[in-house]
Amino acid sequence: MAERAVPLAPGHVGVDLHLEVIAAEGRRAGIERALRDAVRDGRLAPGALLPATRRLADELGVSRGTVKAAYDQLVAEGYLSARQGAGTQVAALPSVDAEPPGAHARARVPRFDLRPGSPDVGTFPADAWLRALRRALAAAPSPAYDYGDPRGRIELRTALSGYLGRARGVLAPPERIVITSGYVQGLALLTRVLDGATIAMEDPGLPFHREVVRRAGGRVVPIGIDGHGARVEELADPHDVSAVVVTPAHQYPTGVTLHPERRRALSDWARARGGLIVEDDYDGEFRYDRQPVGALQGMAPGQVAYVGTASKTLGPALRLGWMVLPPHLVDPVADAKLHSDHHTETIGQLALAELITSHAYDRHVRACRLRYRRRRDRLVELLGAHRNVRGIAAGLHALVEVADEAAVLARAAEAGLAVGHLGEHWHAPGEGAAGERAQGLVVGYGTPRERVYPEALEVLGRVLAGD
Ligand SMILES: Cc1ncc(COP(=O)(O)O)c(C=O)c1O
Repeated sequence: MAERAVPLAPGHVGVDLHLEVIAAEGRRAGIERALRDAVRDGRLAPGALLPATRRLADELGVSRGTVKAAYDQLVAEGYLSARQGAGTQVAALPSVDAEPPGAHARARVPRFDLRPGSPDVGTFPADAWLRALRRALAAAPSPAYDYGDPRGRIELRTALSGYLGRARGVLAPPERIVITSGYVQGLALLTRVLDGATIAMEDPGLPFHREVVRRAGGRVVPIGIDGHGARVEELADPHDVSAVVVTPAHQYPTGVTLHPERRRALSDWARARGGLIVEDDYDGEFRYDRQPVGALQGMAPGQVAYVGTASKTLGPALRLGWMVLPPHLVDPVADAKLHSDHHTETIGQLALAELITSHAYDRHVRACRLRYRRRRDRLVELLGAHRNVRGIAAGLHALVEVADEAAVLARAAEAGLAVGHLGEHWHAPGEGAAGERAQGLVVGYGTPRERVYPEALEVLGRVLAGD
């Protein structure tokens, strides 16, 4: 993807602004998006004066009319304001990008964002998606626009069946796949079907997902994590655990992988107790030091509900996920899905099916893998020998051990750096004497735009230097 970064000197806008115009987007659309991003993430502050159209046109190598059209569009959208004789300015924007409510709302846009959770959404393959969408709609029969199978479109289930088998070692006949609105809906539907069951979830793990389980009627108990992943022996204690949710490929947030003996022990537990393993394979495609280890589901397809998502590979905005279920759960989960939202919207499903069957999905994943691998290497390089980066070379985050989480976080906040930390992931954050529990930063190296990543790392280095 060709990117053109045009530095605009401080004289123009009061800040050294880089506009990344992605050539494939089309010139005007690219300029609009780049400016919109700059206003949203604060690089262009309210009141900042934009360069004259002629000047920006020269710097970008486009016609003046193109820049003028982009400015006009952003004035119409309320991002910019233009006054006769006063040039074009960034508007004051209280309402343009109102924060969504809820747990994932990101309160203020930090200057440097190394929080885990999102990929670099600037890499969304808009062109490939558009092509896939066009082809999918051209081929779609009329009934595709009607209510459909609660499990999702057969085109996507068939495409996923092949992809998951080949890329993740999942045994996935299309009739056992249910398309969901992301992992989060899969987890909620499974919990509802388990009807008030006790569900073990990794400790540390993502608090949002614990809350999702509770709100769907599940009772959450912790299962500890060590260097070999989830401590399966803890399932034998008096809790009457019916299901366990794990991240075997790359534990979130510690980054360890589930040891082969633990994999065996977990599937033995499930077989012996009639328990269910929920396998959250949220970033299984991203392994940098070797071939990805196949999904746990492949060795226990009758005991595992495998859940995957497009959130890390394409983007969370799609809200597209998939479950591969043991046979006895297909009908109950499809029924829960029907009574939740009939089915996941069809158009995106058809586009994703096309993206997968044309192999554009694989190409995109490969390109992202390279990009994230470089980012992880840079992180490890920066931290050098005196910092322990825990976990395997995989995914979009790494755990960096620190001596004093609270002090490091305070310094990070001062430096405009947002970063995750282990403390927010424990089931019972207040418990355990200080020093007993591991302390660490959960560094999401996938999140920043490519251009700001080196600087974000530098700031992280400075923040850690005082630890
Ligand atoms: C541990 C874990 N699982 C799953 C997901 C994906 O969730 P969803 O598909 O609902 O976006 C995430 C995203 O942040 C995650 O961190």
